[in-house]
Amino acid sequence: MAPDVRINPSILAADFVNMQAELARIATADFVHVDVMDNHFVPNLTFGPQMVERIQATSPVPLDVHLMIDDPDRWAPGYAEIGAASVTFHLEAANEPVALARRLRAIGARAGVAVKPMTPVEQLFDIIDDFDQILVMTVEPGFGGQSFMPETMPKLRRLHDEARRRGSQVWLQVDGGIAASTIAQAAESGADTFVAGSAVFGASDPAQAIAALRADASAHMH
Ligand code: DX5
Ligand code: ZN
Repeated sequence: MAPDVRINPSILAADFVNMQAELARIATADFVHVDVMDNHFVPNLTFGPQMVERIQATSPVPLDVHLMIDDPDRWAPGYAEIGAASVTFHLEAANEPVALARRLRAIGARAGVAVKPMTPVEQLFDIIDDFDQILVMTVEPGFGGQSFMPETMPKLRRLHDEARRRGSQVWLQVDGGIAASTIAQAAESGADTFVAGSAVFGASDPAQAIAALRADASAHMH
């Protein structure tokens, strides 16, 4: 059986004033990854709920919202209410991650938690079952087009092994510098959900780039 691979292009790498056309270019993706940044948790600013609501209304694929914001306890449920399929907040920013995950699920979204490259994954072990996906950042969050950090792979593998040991169905996502040259090692280390910004939107044929990433990841998953 072919392994379940998800390729989620990040619209951070899209042309923001042609969003509708850009979304149409990734109709073969599994989800569209939407990076919300508040200029506080990260030193960059993107868009808020109004824009995400318009993307939700326009996108041919479901939304995978990645919140790089302070105080997700206050703001994350609003993105679930808009209809995002998944809402991922940062562990470093949340006051009550488990309570927040339960609220997201109650609204009907998949609950996700993200960790920055230097944040240990061990603190997630006892709360894996409260999440539908865990995002291991493979760059420092804030900007697209950065280089993949291979030093994050051992902790991804530890998380993968622990999730397996517990019989968890949680999706393991990687984000940052994912491209033809790096996706195999992320898949080998246990990722099954791959965010790619520049590698997809920078390609002349995004559908072809998505297909190539998907094939490469499938060949290296276990
Ligand atoms: C970075 C964002 C990523 C970014 C990835 O903070 O979370 O989703 O768009 O971009 P690439 O794939 O270009 O590294
Ligand atoms: Zn992201």
